[in-house]
Amino acid sequence: MFKFTAKALLCALSIGFAGLAQAADPIVIKFSHVVADSTPKGQGALMFKKLVEERLKGKVEVQVYPNSSLYGDGKEMEALLLGDVQMIAPSLAKFGQYTKKLQIFDLPFLFNDIQAVDRFQHSDAGKGLLKSMENNNITGLGYWHNGMKQLSANKALHEPRDARGLKFRVQASDVLDEQFKAIRANPRKMSFAEVYQGLQTGVVNGAENPWSNIYSQKFNEVQKFITESNHGVLDYMLITNTKFWNGLPADVRSELDKILDEVTDKVNAEAEALNQKAKQSVVDSGTSEVIALKPEERAKWVKAMKPVWKKFEGEIGSDLIDAALAANDAK
Ligand code: LMR
Repeated sequence: MFKFTAKALLCALSIGFAGLAQAADPIVIKFSHVVADSTPKGQGALMFKKLVEERLKGKVEVQVYPNSSLYGDGKEMEALLLGDVQMIAPSLAKFGQYTKKLQIFDLPFLFNDIQAVDRFQHSDAGKGLLKSMENNNITGLGYWHNGMKQLSANKALHEPRDARGLKFRVQASDVLDEQFKAIRANPRKMSFAEVYQGLQTGVVNGAENPWSNIYSQKFNEVQKFITESNHGVLDYMLITNTKFWNGLPADVRSELDKILDEVTDKVNAEAEALNQKAKQSVVDSGTSEVIALKPEERAKWVKAMKPVWKKFEGEIGSDLIDAALAANDAK
């Protein structure tokens, strides 16, 4: 009898401990990204961590890995699908393997400015894209801005013909590849972590980035000229693994959703100012000449690059392109 009771007690205790251990173990969200903490995405990831730790203390722990320190381009998506990280925010140029629709964001000179991008992302068409990869186990949680891209090179780029024959680093996007081919330059797909060295050693002669990436990665130290072209957008989709997200306890998920809404609003409200501050830092550093385009010069870039739209209209859908164009008209 005693033997039975002792055994039962031991068993009950061990189940109790297991339960306790489970209750005490927080859910870990690893958030991996490729840029610096000082950029809009870097700041967003840190803000998310701070708010989660304040409001879901002990229940959820967020670990942020910036600057490709855990996974770089190419690997981070695979890691998300394998459950090795739970959140990433790749640039919208990097989803080609999962959907062709997001190529819309890479079309050159589609959006007039970041406010138009924002309006499109908030439209039904834009919101629909967040759910367009659930068949691939990818759920979009929101769009985060970085900003409009600027062209940089070791040669002054005033007109498209100045870029002829130069090698430009591009993100893993077929649209961006075609964009540089359209101006008879040579695009080269390269992961973000390799860009500085690529520019320094002359593997590539130029690139396209928002100011925050240019300054935080010191690209200006290896690029003599930066043309303020605003020819396209570099924004992000914050994504998670669908199965992971749907498997979270409902109360935790709804608190995380609330936090994400707050963080997303803040990132998007502050991104433009961060980019302007980075631009000023580049100007102050005196490393590079910043070139402002005259209206007639800008018109030449538009004319040379815009034919790229036609090549991708079939994959993207003309209805989506029309919805994006409609967002250029402020309501
Ligand atoms: C790039 O590869 O240039 C960007 O997508 C990096 C980033 O995440 O901003």
